[in-house]
Amino acid sequence: MAFPIDRGRRLRSNPAIRKMVRETHLSVDDLIYPLFVAEGEGIKKEISSMPGVYQMSIEHIVTECQKLKALGVPAVILFGIPEHKDALGSQAYDKHGVIQNAIRAIKHEVPEMYVVTDVCMCEYTDHGHCGIIKNNDVDNDETLKYLALEALSHVEAGADMVAPSDMMDGRIITIRDILDGNGYHNIPIMSYAVKYSSAFYGPFREAAESTPSFGDRKTYQMDPANRREALREAMSDVEEGADILMVKPGLPYLDIIRELADNFDKPIAAYNVSGEYAMLHAAAQRGWLDYEKVMFESLLSMKRAGAKLILTYFAKDAARLL
Ligand code: PBG
Repeated sequence: MAFPIDRGRRLRSNPAIRKMVRETHLSVDDLIYPLFVAEGEGIKKEISSMPGVYQMSIEHIVTECQKLKALGVPAVILFGIPEHKDALGSQAYDKHGVIQNAIRAIKHEVPEMYVVTDVCMCEYTDHGHCGIIKNNDVDNDETLKYLALEALSHVEAGADMVAPSDMMDGRIITIRDILDGNGYHNIPIMSYAVKYSSAFYGPFREAAESTPSFGDRKTYQMDPANRREALREAMSDVEEGADILMVKPGLPYLDIIRELADNFDKPIAAYNVSGEYAMLHAAAQRGWLDYEKVMFESLLSMKRAGAKLILTYFAKDAARLL
């Protein structure tokens, strides 16, 4: 049926009808807020390219979790900034590492907060790569042993979910094995299943102090040009036991989010990364974009593309306005 019988504008004529036919809704229930945990005390340092986002020591992290709880944000994902880094990233799997201590503190003070941890070596290695280096390259199978120890140490400290972000092959099954072997059958794994080698991570690397000291991450993170490969990556993670599949970054990869949502019956998460946050803030600071509107439109577009969960630095601002 075409014009004049059909008129799209009929169902847009006032707010009530627009709400009635609205297909996608944002909810605070879907948001996960990333936190950068710095080792030490009395630290609250703003990240220059991410207004309102801070590296914080544990006492500030706990206060932040109380604020998030009051806003209704159900979950956080933790990134560690250790004082000491070495070639084997030993602080990543230390019982008393910065993340393990932070998990215990949060669970003690704000037990309802759902704590996800980023499982990766890049914040803990002195060379900044996401694994163990051999012959100038990240050694996949050697790295798996350390990722497993890291994930287990997070769960032993009380983490509710682990999220491996390194993009090594076989990491999901390796982590599933060690968790199950230690009785943690019910701890879910959210896989950074489709993680592209993206320049949109720039501000994060300042925040997490994890820029590689040589080379780049292209031998393990995906080529931004590839769509079919995303399906293979997601498939292998599902077969290895991933419970949630993440696409990262979010906005530039909405087609990939849709692809995964159509092809897998697991919940899909989108990581609305640091560069996406920085872009909108930079433009809003100049008065070039309306911050609240572009923020909501971005988050909504990821949901419309098929994401159930969104990891986003906008979580607090969105929760305040929702
Ligand atoms: C790696 C990791 C990165 C991000 C999350 N986990 C950075 C990278 O791969 O270089 C990026 C998040 C963001 O940009 O907000 N542990």
